[in-house]
Amino acid sequence: MGVYIIKGGENLTGEIRVQGSKNSSLPILAATILNGKKNTIIDVPKIKDLEVMTQILSYLGADTKKQGNVVEVDSENVNCTKVPEHLMREMRSSIVLMGAILGRFGKVKVSYPGGCEIGPRPIDLHLKGLALMGVKLSESHGFIYAKTNELKGADIHLDFPSVGATENLMLASVLAKGNTIIRNVAKEPEIVDLQNFLNRMGAHIKGAGTDTIKIEGRRIMDLKPVQDYTIIPDRIVAGTYLVAAAITKGRVALTNVITEHLEPIIAKLREMGCIVNCSNGKIELCVDTPLKSLDSLRTLPYPGFPTDMQAPMMALLSTVEGTSILTETIFENRFKHAQELRRMGANISINGNTAIIKGVKELTGAMVEAKDLRAGAALIMAALAAEGETHVEGVYHVERGYESIQDNLVALGAKIVKKH
Ligand code: UD1
Repeated sequence: MGVYIIKGGENLTGEIRVQGSKNSSLPILAATILNGKKNTIIDVPKIKDLEVMTQILSYLGADTKKQGNVVEVDSENVNCTKVPEHLMREMRSSIVLMGAILGRFGKVKVSYPGGCEIGPRPIDLHLKGLALMGVKLSESHGFIYAKTNELKGADIHLDFPSVGATENLMLASVLAKGNTIIRNVAKEPEIVDLQNFLNRMGAHIKGAGTDTIKIEGRRIMDLKPVQDYTIIPDRIVAGTYLVAAAITKGRVALTNVITEHLEPIIAKLREMGCIVNCSNGKIELCVDTPLKSLDSLRTLPYPGFPTDMQAPMMALLSTVEGTSILTETIFENRFKHAQELRRMGANISINGNTAIIKGVKELTGAMVEAKDLRAGAALIMAALAAEGETHVEGVYHVERGYESIQDNLVALGAKIVKKH
């Protein structure tokens, strides 16, 4: 499975180029199914989740080629509408293929995504929206069968601004007959990226980034190939490296960033006393005074503080004098890293969806295990600051989302090796 062995105590310094966004690349690769043409996408990170997505596209009949961070998908010969169960199980977010396959073929079979380490992740909002568009749904033996003679535009109100449901319904409505309005949608930058990609393909979508998205349905013959579409930078990866700089009291500059997407994270780091300078697509963070605890940090849908940064921030707050209160409002059961951080000497108590973190003078190296992607990132952050050596097991989870994290941290001066 792989273990990172990290010797803490180095102040990280230097510059890193941030990878393209995982959470944009996934729905955008799914979207390539819609036009039946050749699409080229730039800055797709080389990570496990995207390997799985390209494997699924190939299985469905697409011709996929990868060269570095450029992925070409020719979907002309896609003819299969069943997403293989073993690949679907590897990555819950493959559920976005549902909207794209339904959009092109009017039918799809996927396996039901089960619960995962960060709690149950139902897809009721995806299914309710599709039903309003005229899709007949049935479930048996862990599979969902969806079928329609004609996808119809609909007026859909999401009970919660789910990222995945917003993406799935956008994908389904591109080729639907008539107009679709989706209200109370997610406003994450990755939704705007998906809209931009689909519009480059010839879709008519407006409103991404606001509460309401409107889609005018098109015919497949109206859709064009998309050449050289560049994925936005990964704001969570950028946030993680900013935390790495803060926790090691270093000085790290990041290129390939969109500052606006990072505002919710930068605001909290500044509140703690980090010095963050942003200019010309570059962000630099350094620390020259002891950091302060946070009275309140709540995860919220964008533009609130992202749940994906909750675990790395918990690691950072564990090293800061005073008491911090961190509330997770998006996912149940997303505090499993707290128990691992405690092994390193952190003082964290959990009460429901609230973590009370009392900063300690020093974390100490220990044997810990990453149970999910961002928990893994948090443990690496803690290990970078800890006294002694930490073994972080569960490297597989980290590599689902972070491209070359070990090389990047080593380039900044960290002592980290990987053992198989
Ligand atoms: C996406 C991101 C993930 C991020 C999350 C929230 C991808 C690949 N993943 O996940 O990194 O942490 O957004 O920003 O983009 N919910 C329902 N019913 C539904 C759908 C969701 O109850 O039909 C609930 C979920 O259980 C969860 C909350 O809504 O509690 C948010 O989920 P959602 O926004 O859908 O997250 P994902 O799209 O799964």
